[in-house]
Amino acid sequence: MAAPRILSGIKPTGRPHLGNYYGMMQPGIEWQDRGEAFYFIADYHAFTTVHDPAALREHTRSVALDFLACGLDPEKAVLFRQSDVPEVTELAWLLTCLTPMPMLENCHAYKDHLAKGKVPSHGLFAYPVLMAADILLYNSNIVPVGRDQKQHVEVTRDLAEKANRLFGPIFTVPQPSIVAEVATVIGLDGQKMSKSYNNTIGLFEEEKVLRKKIMSIVTDSEPVEAAKDPATSSIVALYKLCADASAVALMEDQFRAGGLGYGEFKKRLFEALWEKFAPFRARRAELAADPSVLDAILADGAARARAIALPTMERVRKAMGIR
Ligand code: ADP
Ligand code: TRP
Repeated sequence: MAAPRILSGIKPTGRPHLGNYYGMMQPGIEWQDRGEAFYFIADYHAFTTVHDPAALREHTRSVALDFLACGLDPEKAVLFRQSDVPEVTELAWLLTCLTPMPMLENCHAYKDHLAKGKVPSHGLFAYPVLMAADILLYNSNIVPVGRDQKQHVEVTRDLAEKANRLFGPIFTVPQPSIVAEVATVIGLDGQKMSKSYNNTIGLFEEEKVLRKKIMSIVTDSEPVEAAKDPATSSIVALYKLCADASAVALMEDQFRAGGLGYGEFKKRLFEALWEKFAPFRARRAELAADPSVLDAILADGAARARAIALPTMERVRKAMGIR
Protein backbone atom coordinates (compact mmCIF):
# COMPACT_ATOMS: atom_id res chain seq x y z
CA MET A 1 0.00 0.00 0.00
CA ALA A 2 1.20 3.52 -0.75
CA ALA A 3 2.28 5.65 2.24
CA PRO A 4 -0.76 7.32 3.81
CA ARG A 5 -1.29 11.04 3.44
CA ILE A 6 -1.67 12.62 6.88
CA LEU A 7 -3.06 16.10 7.38
CA SER A 8 -4.00 18.32 10.28
CA GLY A 9 -4.35 22.00 11.10
CA ILE A 10 -4.07 24.26 14.11
CA LYS A 11 -5.72 27.65 14.51
CA PRO A 12 -3.45 30.61 15.26
CA THR A 13 -5.75 32.08 17.88
CA GLY A 14 -3.04 32.32 20.56
CA ARG A 15 -0.06 30.32 21.80
CA PRO A 16 -0.47 26.52 21.80
CA HIS A 17 -1.14 24.79 25.13
CA LEU A 18 -0.66 21.28 26.50
CA GLY A 19 -4.03 20.18 25.03
CA ASN A 20 -2.88 21.19 21.56
CA TYR A 21 0.50 19.57 22.07
CA TYR A 22 -0.61 16.18 23.41
CA GLY A 23 -3.86 16.07 21.40
CA MET A 24 -2.52 17.06 18.02
CA MET A 25 1.08 18.33 17.72
CA GLN A 26 2.92 15.40 19.27
CA PRO A 27 0.84 12.74 17.43
CA GLY A 28 1.32 14.76 14.22
CA ILE A 29 5.07 14.81 14.77
CA GLU A 30 5.06 11.04 15.27
CA TRP A 31 3.13 10.56 12.02
CA GLN A 32 5.77 12.43 10.00
CA ASP A 33 7.87 9.23 9.93
CA ARG A 34 5.01 7.04 8.82
CA GLY A 35 3.65 8.74 5.72
CA GLU A 36 3.42 12.00 3.81
CA ALA A 37 2.47 14.52 6.47
CA PHE A 38 0.91 17.93 5.77
CA TYR A 39 0.35 20.39 8.62
CA PHE A 40 -0.96 23.88 8.26
CA ILE A 41 -1.61 26.97 10.32
CA ALA A 42 -5.34 27.57 9.86
CA ASP A 43 -5.45 31.35 9.57
CA TYR A 44 -8.76 31.35 7.64
CA HIS A 45 -10.26 29.38 10.52
CA ALA A 46 -8.77 31.73 13.12
CA PHE A 47 -10.40 34.64 11.27
CA THR A 48 -13.75 33.42 12.61
CA THR A 49 -12.67 35.01 15.91
CA VAL A 50 -9.44 37.02 15.48
CA HIS A 51 -10.18 40.35 13.79
CA ASP A 52 -6.92 42.10 14.64
CA PRO A 53 -4.69 41.81 11.53
CA ALA A 54 -1.39 42.31 13.37
CA ALA A 55 -2.32 39.69 15.98
CA LEU A 56 -3.43 37.20 13.33
CA ARG A 57 -0.15 37.59 11.40
CA GLU A 58 1.91 37.35 14.58
CA HIS A 59 0.08 34.29 15.91
CA THR A 60 0.37 32.54 12.55
CA ARG A 61 4.15 32.83 12.66
CA SER A 62 4.49 32.02 16.33
CA VAL A 63 2.37 28.85 16.13
CA ALA A 64 4.49 27.71 13.16
CA LEU A 65 7.64 28.31 15.23
CA ASP A 66 6.17 26.42 18.18
CA PHE A 67 5.35 23.44 15.99
CA LEU A 68 8.87 23.38 14.51
CA ALA A 69 10.45 23.80 17.94
CA CYS A 70 8.51 20.76 19.22
CA GLY A 71 10.00 18.56 16.51
CA LEU A 72 8.12 19.04 13.26
CA ASP A 73 10.78 18.38 10.65
CA PRO A 74 10.20 20.44 7.48
CA GLU A 75 12.28 17.96 5.48
CA LYS A 76 9.81 15.22 6.32
CA ALA A 77 6.52 17.05 6.79
CA VAL A 78 5.06 19.90 4.78
CA LEU A 79 4.33 22.94 6.98
CA PHE A 80 2.29 25.70 5.36
CA ARG A 81 -0.07 28.57 5.96
CA GLN A 82 -3.67 27.72 5.01
CA SER A 83 -4.17 31.04 3.18
CA ASP A 84 -1.16 30.40 0.94
CA VAL A 85 -3.44 28.01 -0.94
CA PRO A 86 -6.59 30.13 -1.32
CA GLU A 87 -8.19 27.48 -3.58
CA VAL A 88 -9.35 25.89 -0.33
CA THR A 89 -12.03 28.58 -0.08
CA GLU A 90 -13.24 27.72 -3.58
CA LEU A 91 -13.57 24.08 -2.60
CA ALA A 92 -15.31 25.13 0.60
CA TRP A 93 -17.93 26.96 -1.47
CA LEU A 94 -18.54 23.94 -3.70
CA LEU A 95 -18.90 21.72 -0.62
CA THR A 96 -21.17 24.28 1.07
CA CYS A 97 -23.65 23.74 -1.76
CA LEU A 98 -23.73 20.03 -0.92
CA THR A 99 -24.07 20.53 2.85
CA PRO A 100 -27.52 20.16 4.44
CA MET A 101 -28.13 22.93 7.00
CA PRO A 102 -29.14 20.44 9.75
CA MET A 103 -25.72 18.80 9.52
CA LEU A 104 -24.09 22.08 10.55
CA GLU A 105 -26.82 22.97 13.04
CA ASN A 106 -25.82 19.80 14.84
CA CYS A 107 -22.12 20.73 15.16
CA HIS A 108 -20.92 21.43 18.69
CA ALA A 109 -19.00 24.71 18.16
CA TYR A 110 -22.11 26.32 16.69
CA LYS A 111 -24.38 24.82 19.37
CA ASP A 112 -22.05 26.01 22.16
CA HIS A 113 -22.11 29.50 20.70
CA LEU A 114 -25.91 29.56 20.64
CA ALA A 115 -26.07 28.10 24.16
CA LYS A 116 -23.95 31.00 25.42
CA GLY A 117 -26.46 33.41 23.89
CA LYS A 118 -23.96 34.69 21.30
CA VAL A 119 -24.81 35.40 17.66
CA PRO A 120 -22.63 33.15 15.50
CA SER A 121 -21.23 34.50 12.25
CA HIS A 122 -21.93 32.66 9.03
CA GLY A 123 -18.20 31.78 9.05
CA LEU A 124 -18.46 30.08 12.43
CA PHE A 125 -21.54 28.18 11.25
CA ALA A 126 -19.79 27.03 8.05
CA TYR A 127 -16.47 26.33 9.80
CA PRO A 128 -16.72 22.51 9.47
CA VAL A 129 -17.17 22.86 5.69
CA LEU A 130 -13.92 24.80 5.38
CA MET A 131 -12.30 22.10 7.47
CA ALA A 132 -13.69 19.45 5.10
CA ALA A 133 -12.22 21.42 2.19
CA ASP A 134 -8.80 21.40 3.92
CA ILE A 135 -8.91 17.66 4.31
CA LEU A 136 -10.29 16.79 0.86
CA LEU A 137 -8.14 19.25 -1.11
CA TYR A 138 -5.03 17.29 -0.11
CA ASN A 139 -6.54 13.78 -0.61
CA SER A 140 -5.85 13.00 3.04
CA ASN A 141 -6.25 9.51 4.48
CA ILE A 142 -5.58 10.23 8.15
CA VAL A 143 -6.39 13.27 10.25
CA PRO A 144 -4.68 13.36 13.70
CA VAL A 145 -6.81 15.53 16.01
CA GLY A 146 -8.04 15.80 19.58
CA ARG A 147 -11.40 14.23 20.40
CA ASP A 148 -13.27 17.52 20.06
CA GLN A 149 -12.58 17.53 16.30
CA LYS A 150 -13.94 14.04 15.62
CA GLN A 151 -17.36 15.36 14.67
CA HIS A 152 -15.80 17.62 12.04
CA VAL A 153 -13.97 14.71 10.44
CA GLU A 154 -17.29 12.86 10.33
CA VAL A 155 -18.87 15.81 8.50
CA THR A 156 -15.95 15.60 6.06
CA ARG A 157 -16.53 11.90 5.47
CA ASP A 158 -20.26 12.46 4.82
CA LEU A 159 -19.53 15.25 2.34
CA ALA A 160 -16.85 13.24 0.53
CA GLU A 161 -19.17 10.24 0.20
CA LYS A 162 -22.01 12.41 -1.05
CA ALA A 163 -19.79 14.14 -3.64
CA ASN A 164 -18.42 10.79 -4.78
CA ARG A 165 -21.98 9.48 -5.29
CA LEU A 166 -22.97 12.54 -7.30
CA PHE A 167 -19.83 13.20 -9.34
CA GLY A 168 -17.78 9.99 -9.36
CA PRO A 169 -14.81 9.11 -7.17
CA ILE A 170 -13.23 12.56 -6.78
CA PHE A 171 -12.43 12.52 -3.06
CA THR A 172 -10.51 10.27 -0.68
CA VAL A 173 -12.66 9.48 2.39
CA PRO A 174 -10.48 10.28 5.46
CA GLN A 175 -10.32 8.78 8.93
CA PRO A 176 -9.68 10.62 12.20
CA SER A 177 -6.80 9.43 14.37
CA ILE A 178 -7.27 10.17 18.06
CA VAL A 179 -4.76 9.17 20.73
CA ALA A 180 -6.90 7.26 23.21
CA GLU A 181 -4.73 7.87 26.29
CA VAL A 182 -4.75 11.60 25.66
CA ALA A 183 -8.25 12.19 24.26
CA THR A 184 -8.95 15.33 26.28
CA VAL A 185 -6.31 17.17 28.30
CA ILE A 186 -7.78 18.79 31.42
CA GLY A 187 -7.12 22.44 32.23
CA LEU A 188 -6.31 24.30 35.46
CA ASP A 189 -9.97 24.41 36.51
CA GLY A 190 -10.77 20.75 35.79
CA GLN A 191 -12.61 21.44 32.49
CA LYS A 192 -11.21 20.63 29.04
CA MET A 193 -8.08 22.74 28.48
CA SER A 194 -8.98 25.37 25.88
CA LYS A 195 -8.00 28.88 24.88
CA SER A 196 -11.65 29.82 25.16
CA TYR A 197 -11.82 28.80 28.84
CA ASN A 198 -8.76 30.68 30.04
CA ASN A 199 -7.49 27.57 31.81
CA THR A 200 -4.47 26.69 29.70
CA ILE A 201 -0.87 25.81 30.39
CA GLY A 202 1.18 27.08 27.44
CA LEU A 203 4.10 25.11 26.02
CA PHE A 204 6.50 28.00 26.31
CA GLU A 205 5.45 29.79 29.49
CA GLU A 206 8.07 31.67 31.47
CA GLU A 207 9.32 29.70 34.45
CA LYS A 208 7.58 31.87 37.03
CA VAL A 209 4.29 31.88 35.15
CA LEU A 210 4.38 28.12 34.67
CA ARG A 211 5.05 27.55 38.37
CA LYS A 212 2.24 29.87 39.35
CA LYS A 213 -0.22 28.26 36.96
CA ILE A 214 0.57 24.77 38.21
CA MET A 215 0.24 25.85 41.81
CA SER A 216 -3.22 27.20 40.91
CA ILE A 217 -4.57 23.84 39.65
CA VAL A 218 -7.88 23.35 41.41
CA THR A 219 -7.91 20.45 43.92
CA ASP A 220 -10.29 19.28 46.63
CA SER A 221 -9.58 20.29 50.23
CA GLU A 222 -8.39 16.93 51.60
CA PRO A 223 -5.88 17.43 54.44
CA VAL A 224 -2.23 16.42 53.96
CA GLU A 225 -2.59 13.14 55.92
CA ALA A 226 -5.64 11.91 53.99
CA ALA A 227 -5.43 9.20 51.33
CA LYS A 228 -6.21 10.75 47.95
CA ASP A 229 -7.64 9.30 44.76
CA PRO A 230 -5.12 9.52 41.90
CA ALA A 231 -7.76 8.53 39.33
CA THR A 232 -9.71 11.76 39.71
CA SER A 233 -6.78 14.16 40.07
CA SER A 234 -5.85 16.62 37.29
CA ILE A 235 -2.33 16.73 38.74
CA VAL A 236 -1.88 13.00 38.10
CA ALA A 237 -3.58 13.26 34.68
CA LEU A 238 -1.12 15.96 33.58
CA TYR A 239 1.84 14.21 35.18
CA LYS A 240 1.04 11.06 33.16
CA LEU A 241 1.52 13.05 29.98
CA CYS A 242 5.01 14.31 30.77
CA ALA A 243 6.68 11.99 33.33
CA ASP A 244 7.97 8.45 32.91
CA ALA A 245 5.98 5.43 34.06
CA SER A 246 7.95 4.80 37.28
CA ALA A 247 7.59 8.42 38.44
CA VAL A 248 3.86 8.24 37.72
CA ALA A 249 3.52 4.96 39.66
CA LEU A 250 5.31 6.53 42.63
CA MET A 251 3.02 9.56 42.60
CA GLU A 252 -0.06 7.33 42.42
CA ASP A 253 1.16 5.25 45.38
CA GLN A 254 1.86 8.36 47.40
CA PHE A 255 -1.61 9.72 46.62
CA ARG A 256 -3.19 6.54 47.98
CA ALA A 257 -0.90 6.38 51.03
CA GLY A 258 -1.67 9.93 52.23
CA GLY A 259 0.88 12.05 54.10
CA LEU A 260 1.82 14.38 51.26
CA GLY A 261 -0.09 17.52 50.28
CA TYR A 262 -1.11 18.60 46.79
CA GLY A 263 1.58 21.32 46.84
CA GLU A 264 4.31 18.68 46.78
CA PHE A 265 2.74 16.86 43.83
CA LYS A 266 2.30 20.13 41.96
CA LYS A 267 5.99 20.89 42.44
CA ARG A 268 6.87 17.57 40.88
CA LEU A 269 4.52 18.24 37.96
CA PHE A 270 6.15 21.63 37.42
CA GLU A 271 9.61 20.07 37.32
CA ALA A 272 8.59 17.36 34.88
CA LEU A 273 6.97 19.85 32.50
CA TRP A 274 9.82 22.34 32.73
CA GLU A 275 12.31 19.60 31.89
CA LYS A 276 10.22 18.03 29.13
CA PHE A 277 9.99 21.33 27.22
CA ALA A 278 13.60 22.48 27.84
CA PRO A 279 14.99 21.21 24.52
CA PHE A 280 12.00 22.68 22.68
CA ARG A 281 12.61 26.07 24.31
CA ALA A 282 16.21 26.03 23.16
CA ARG A 283 15.25 25.11 19.61
CA ARG A 284 12.55 27.76 19.53
CA ALA A 285 15.00 30.48 20.56
CA GLU A 286 17.34 29.41 17.75
CA LEU A 287 14.58 29.41 15.14
CA ALA A 288 13.20 32.76 16.25
CA ALA A 289 16.59 34.43 15.96
CA ASP A 290 16.44 34.51 12.16
CA PRO A 291 12.94 35.17 10.71
CA SER A 292 14.11 34.29 7.20
CA VAL A 293 14.35 30.62 8.24
CA LEU A 294 10.61 30.45 8.92
CA ASP A 295 9.85 32.45 5.75
CA ALA A 296 11.75 29.89 3.69
CA ILE A 297 10.06 26.91 5.39
CA LEU A 298 6.59 28.37 4.84
CA ALA A 299 7.34 29.27 1.20
CA ASP A 300 8.58 25.77 0.49
CA GLY A 301 5.55 24.30 2.31
CA ALA A 302 3.17 26.46 0.26
CA ALA A 303 4.74 25.27 -2.99
CA ARG A 304 4.52 21.60 -1.96
CA ALA A 305 0.92 22.04 -0.78
CA ARG A 306 -0.10 23.78 -4.02
CA ALA A 307 1.39 20.94 -6.06
CA ILE A 308 -1.27 18.66 -4.55
CA ALA A 309 -4.11 21.17 -4.27
CA LEU A 310 -4.18 22.56 -7.80
CA PRO A 311 -4.63 19.20 -9.58
CA THR A 312 -7.38 18.30 -7.06
CA MET A 313 -9.22 21.51 -7.91
CA GLU A 314 -8.90 20.84 -11.65
CA ARG A 315 -10.39 17.40 -11.15
CA VAL A 316 -13.19 18.69 -8.91
CA ARG A 317 -14.16 21.59 -11.18
CA LYS A 318 -14.26 19.31 -14.19
CA ALA A 319 -16.37 16.70 -12.40
CA MET A 320 -18.79 19.33 -11.07
CA GLY A 321 -19.22 21.21 -14.35
CA ILE A 322 -17.51 24.41 -13.26
CA ARG A 323 -15.51 26.03 -16.12
P1 ADP B 1 -8.55 25.48 21.53
O1 ADP B 1 -9.72 24.63 22.00
O2 ADP B 1 -7.66 25.80 22.65
O3 ADP B 1 -8.99 26.68 20.74
P2 ADP B 1 -7.82 24.36 18.95
O4 ADP B 1 -9.27 24.30 18.58
O5 ADP B 1 -6.96 25.35 18.23
O6 ADP B 1 -7.69 24.56 20.53
O7 ADP B 1 -7.21 22.89 18.77
C1 ADP B 1 -6.10 22.51 17.97
C2 ADP B 1 -5.89 21.00 18.09
O8 ADP B 1 -5.61 20.66 19.46
C3 ADP B 1 -7.13 20.17 17.72
O9 ADP B 1 -6.73 18.97 17.05
C4 ADP B 1 -7.76 19.85 19.03
O10 ADP B 1 -8.52 18.66 19.00
C5 ADP B 1 -6.55 19.70 19.93
N1 ADP B 1 -6.92 20.04 21.32
C6 ADP B 1 -7.31 21.26 21.77
N2 ADP B 1 -7.58 21.22 23.11
C7 ADP B 1 -7.37 19.94 23.48
C8 ADP B 1 -7.46 19.26 24.74
N3 ADP B 1 -7.81 19.88 25.86
N4 ADP B 1 -7.16 17.94 24.76
C9 ADP B 1 -6.78 17.27 23.64
N5 ADP B 1 -6.67 17.87 22.43
C10 ADP B 1 -6.95 19.17 22.34
N1 TRP C 1 -10.74 22.95 13.34
C1 TRP C 1 -9.47 22.55 13.87
C2 TRP C 1 -9.37 23.04 15.32
O1 TRP C 1 -10.12 23.84 15.77
C3 TRP C 1 -8.33 23.11 13.07
C4 TRP C 1 -8.40 22.63 11.66
C5 TRP C 1 -8.77 23.36 10.58
C6 TRP C 1 -8.15 21.30 11.20
N2 TRP C 1 -8.75 22.60 9.45
C7 TRP C 1 -8.38 21.33 9.80
C8 TRP C 1 -7.76 20.12 11.82
C9 TRP C 1 -8.22 20.18 9.01
C10 TRP C 1 -7.62 18.96 11.01
C11 TRP C 1 -7.86 19.01 9.62
O2 TRP C 1 -8.54 22.60 16.02
